[in-house]
Amino acid sequence: MSKPEPIGLGVIGTGNIAGTCLRAAKRLDGPFRVRALCGLEADRLERLAREYGVPWTTADYPALLARPDVDAVAIYSPDHLHFPMIRDALLAGKDVVVTKPMVISSEEAAEVLALERRTGRVVLVGETSRYDHRTLAAHRLFQDGDLGRLIFGETHYVHDMRTVFDQTPWRYQEPHVKDFPIGSMCHPIALITMFFGDVAEVSAFGINGGMDPRYPANREDTFLVNLRFQGGGLGRVLGAYGLVHPPLPMEALSLFGTKGSLVNNDIILDKMPGHPTATLQYRAEGGYDGHNGQVYRYMEEFARCVREGHGAPSLSPAVDAAKTVAVGEAIKQSVKAGGAPVRPRMEF
Ligand SMILES: NC(=O)c1ccc[n+]([C@@H]2O[C@H](COP(=O)([O-])OP(=O)(O)OC[C@H]3O[C@@H](n4cnc5c(N)ncnc54)[C@H](O)[C@@H]3O)[C@@H](O)[C@H]2O)c1
Repeated sequence: MSKPEPIGLGVIGTGNIAGTCLRAAKRLDGPFRVRALCGLEADRLERLAREYGVPWTTADYPALLARPDVDAVAIYSPDHLHFPMIRDALLAGKDVVVTKPMVISSEEAAEVLALERRTGRVVLVGETSRYDHRTLAAHRLFQDGDLGRLIFGETHYVHDMRTVFDQTPWRYQEPHVKDFPIGSMCHPIALITMFFGDVAEVSAFGINGGMDPRYPANREDTFLVNLRFQGGGLGRVLGAYGLVHPPLPMEALSLFGTKGSLVNNDIILDKMPGHPTATLQYRAEGGYDGHNGQVYRYMEEFARCVREGHGAPSLSPAVDAAKTVAVGEAIKQSVKAGGAPVRPRMEF
């Protein structure tokens, strides 16, 4: 059988994570040909285009979307620009892969879903936490029934933001200052809902740690969240962005079930005869880890979805990202209400 034509890819953004996407497209060596790159900083644009052999560059993203040789678009702009760029890309007939958060409000999310249906294109969200090799290994255990019924889950994303703020001032500058429950807690929310499904109720507390004066003092940067899931399990999510990084992995997943439990890389399976309390380390095959591996895997999945067309199943569809945004909104509402339970919107 002859190889299918490569998918013409346009990449918007030239930051580190856009570079990771370009690396993944090159390493995949087949499904994509990067035909256009867009960014506002001429030096970064030129350097990346040279490094990855991209033949055409622009600072004007509608010009990229107008190119007939661009079939699909990868979006890596600041969070608040995702929505207009997804909308314009879908209306231009392109398939879309967008970094997290998909968008910054549930109203925008509902519009993306309506547009995705209307245009019949694909939207995949590059939610890296779902494509981590440990997540995928844990998900296989869960799907195989090795963990039994999940009773409780815990995820966290803890990140000292000072050096990130140095590189990307848009994260602390008004009016589009980083909204942590939407723009950062999307990681641990998407991770826990991958196992527990839809959220019934959220109760959250938040504080501003005040460690970095660049982040507005009237906004929280640290959140403790309790979740009750529609399927019956319970969850706890920590998002902390204004503290010295503790001796913990930046992102982590713990699952506690009736047949097995896991904390990071360690698991205990009740079914192990004679060793019900032994821990063992699990690893997914392949050693390509961190953002490089995560982005590689979602770009590989995006290529399959583009080939299969609208409705192709993926680990991180737009509808899940919409629910993740809605949980982020419920966290903010609950914090405002002193921890009162809030039911997030789950119908999209
Ligand atoms: N784990 C992950 O998946 C992960 C990690 C880091 C960042 N991100 C996300 O990636 C996105 C970008 O973050 P970053 O750290 O690369 O930021 P950045 O500031 O380094 O890059 C943003 C890029 O967007 C471009 N841009 C801005 N306005 C534009 C416009 N009007 N038209 C065209 N291009 C425009 C800029 O020129 C720049 O190249 C954010 O949404 C962030 O949340 C995801």
